[in-house]
Amino acid sequence: MISDATRARFAREVAKFPADQKQSAVMACLSIVQQEQGWVSPESEQEVANYLGMPVMAVHEVTTFYNMYNQKPVGAFKLNVCTNLPCQLRGGQQALKYLESRLGVSAGETTPDGLFTLEPSECQGACADAPVLLVNDRHMCSFMTHDKLDQLIDSLQQAAAPAAKA
Ligand code: FES
Repeated sequence: MISDATRARFAREVAKFPADQKQSAVMACLSIVQQEQGWVSPESEQEVANYLGMPVMAVHEVTTFYNMYNQKPVGAFKLNVCTNLPCQLRGGQQALKYLESRLGVSAGETTPDGLFTLEPSECQGACADAPVLLVNDRHMCSFMTHDKLDQLIDSLQQAAAPAAKA
């Protein structure tokens, strides 16, 4: 269920466009839903569609076109490892395999403790920093050697520890 606070954020996005083009805010509204709920459920798509006055299928087309929108619940930390060619040539696939081994999950899966979701991704536009990965769609990590992958996982586990104890 979309809260009043979420609707207020929607309204700020819609206000950026002419009154007869509020559908242009669909990506922003879906991003807000994902920030607040962790994923975009079919119910949320319906609510966004209702809010923007557009067919729910048109909203679903956006959700499914961009792989940054989560179509199912994910862990506290979603790790998108780039496996496109430039990263592949500099260890992208090995980075993904290393994380599969370290976390005990396959790409596309979430660890049983709900902490990590591991996914491959398309080019993130930072090929010169290969191999790269993105944490929760926002934080880019560059030149990810196995040592740096270990440091990242350790730091994320530590960051989550106080919340887990609370
Ligand atoms: Fe990985 Fe471009 S191929 S960032």
